[in-house]
Amino acid sequence: MSVRRVFASFCVLLFVGGSFAASNSGGKVWLSDLDLSKTQQGWGEPRKNLSVEGNPLKIAGRTFERGLGTHADSLLCIELNGGSSRFHAMVGVDDEAGTRGSVEFRILADGKQIYKSGLIRSNDPAKEVDVDVAGVQMLVLTVDSGNDMNYDHADWADAYFTVTGTAPKTVDAPREEAVILTPKPSPKPRINSARVFGVRPDSPVLYTIAASGQRPLWFNAENLPAGLSLDRATGRITGQLRRPGEHRITLVATNDLGETRKELRLVVGDTIALTPPMGWNSWNCWGCAVDDRKIRDAADSMVKSGLIHHGWQYVNIDDCWMVRRNSDDATVGGPTRDEAGRILTNKRFPDMKGLTDYVHSLGLKVGTYISPGPWTCAGYEGSWQHEQADAQRFAEWGFDYLKYDWCGYGSIVRQPDLEQMQEPYLFMRMCLTRTNRDIVYSLCQYGMGDVWKWGAQVGGNCWRTTGDITDSWGSMSGIGFAQAELAPYASPGHWNDPDMLVVGMVGWGPSLRDSRLTPNEQYTHISLWCLLCSPLLIGCDLTRLDDFTMNLLTNDEILEVNQDPLGEQAHRVTQDNYREVWTKRMEDGSTAVGLFNRDEVPQTVTAKWSDLHVSGKLRVRDLWRQQDMGVFEGAFGVEVPRHGVVLVRLFPAAQ
Ligand code: GLA
Repeated sequence: MSVRRVFASFCVLLFVGGSFAASNSGGKVWLSDLDLSKTQQGWGEPRKNLSVEGNPLKIAGRTFERGLGTHADSLLCIELNGGSSRFHAMVGVDDEAGTRGSVEFRILADGKQIYKSGLIRSNDPAKEVDVDVAGVQMLVLTVDSGNDMNYDHADWADAYFTVTGTAPKTVDAPREEAVILTPKPSPKPRINSARVFGVRPDSPVLYTIAASGQRPLWFNAENLPAGLSLDRATGRITGQLRRPGEHRITLVATNDLGETRKELRLVVGDTIALTPPMGWNSWNCWGCAVDDRKIRDAADSMVKSGLIHHGWQYVNIDDCWMVRRNSDDATVGGPTRDEAGRILTNKRFPDMKGLTDYVHSLGLKVGTYISPGPWTCAGYEGSWQHEQADAQRFAEWGFDYLKYDWCGYGSIVRQPDLEQMQEPYLFMRMCLTRTNRDIVYSLCQYGMGDVWKWGAQVGGNCWRTTGDITDSWGSMSGIGFAQAELAPYASPGHWNDPDMLVVGMVGWGPSLRDSRLTPNEQYTHISLWCLLCSPLLIGCDLTRLDDFTMNLLTNDEILEVNQDPLGEQAHRVTQDNYREVWTKRMEDGSTAVGLFNRDEVPQTVTAKWSDLHVSGKLRVRDLWRQQDMGVFEGAFGVEVPRHGVVLVRLFPAAQ
């Protein structure tokens, strides 16, 4: 079809539609008649003329026929091209959210804020928005969650444009160029593994020294306690230690260009995961399309890509390795357990022990997943009434990590009180302890009952604090920035878990896509998760890592913030006008500082020494660029791009 014919058909459509105006007739165009799929949001899908959960739009008892139902953090860009004169809407929290929603609506016109609702809570009457948009090219509608993204069902009700020229059109949010900020790792040897490692007495030890630098590299470990031995070529330390205590080992890595040394504190005691676990998990990538081959490929890629040299070590199988209940699909159906009650894998995992042996043979660790309920979230066999047998089986198979996901347990206790929430986790803890294997215990129940307050008491090494993450700015930032209050609950061996990473190619299987996070949003994601001492579980296809994603995952100065032995989770020190400053005290006395910009336009973000509780002249090092910025006193300010971050570390000036 020619351009002219397309244009002619478009005009006819406008005419027939009646509500569209191609000329200066002052026509009304409903927001809900535009393509709403361009909306990015923190949870669920955008809905036309309905709330995010599919109910009629209703704010404080008042029902609206038209509008957009979304969920904070939400973002929609609309190209007006100077064709509209006004935008009207009634905004508020939808009644379906109960009483706990709280959001802020904003409108930006060509980068300038022209409307801000202030905080609106559940049951507040709808606020009327009526703004002049004459001459505006690009309008951006946002809904921000503030500090807590829960129940933030937001309605742009009765929303329409008064159109005098070109019709409005929704478009994708801007995406900046993917700039690699970090220089390539040096060919000289550098040891990147954490400075502390916990093992339990009598458990088998597997510790691979993570070191970057030109190969071949040779390893040494001075003061290695009796019971452990080192493979000098691979850097793997294996063996067993009987007595509790602490050992200070000097790790050494040598290549043709030199030698490097680093002290490792090996703590034999009750606590493992003394730094947040780092690895990969199959869920955000493959979902239920996971199989033995994909796990082996992920493990191979963790080695071949060099991720292993930067401390990445767990390869975790998520849901769907067991047999699916009542399934006609021969690859996942069949008997769920053998006569002895031992759990069976489905046919996509023909030899679980062979698989775990393979992953271990690469110097990596391997994790699994199950639910305390009769079935998992995806409807596969759960551990209900087989807990001890399953823990035993996991240990026999050689697993090093267990994600224990509430899901199907909801059918056992529907409205659990605190004790009922804790019970299945305590029980599996006991079963795992009996196995004499160091299995990182990851609680997954989406933050119910403020799990961060008791996750450590039930023996968890980490606990999910939120629902599932997805690769949108709304989801990632809504979750990440909501972790501020949780800092007191993290400590070595006990970590808040705001869910897995969504950089690289993700998709929840079988088909994958590039993360929808923009490059700056991805820098924000990794920076924030490192500051939060979050477990770092990569969620993308490791066989298809591009240079940008590799850069995100292999900056050792950034990862050091996550792996610092002090294990102190960052605090938010200031929050104003969509700018936030977060700070994390490091073991060596230095301070990591994240300067974040959650706004739609670049902003200068300043960290004041008085807010950070530091003083004097400090050397400021930009960790993504691995570059000193100079010596500063009193404050450090920098321009931060839209949705971006500058992550710095402050050292005494003389250091
Ligand atoms: C839940 C969890 C996810 C994932 C799926 C698997 O939704 O929160 O991380 O494990 O179950 O079904």
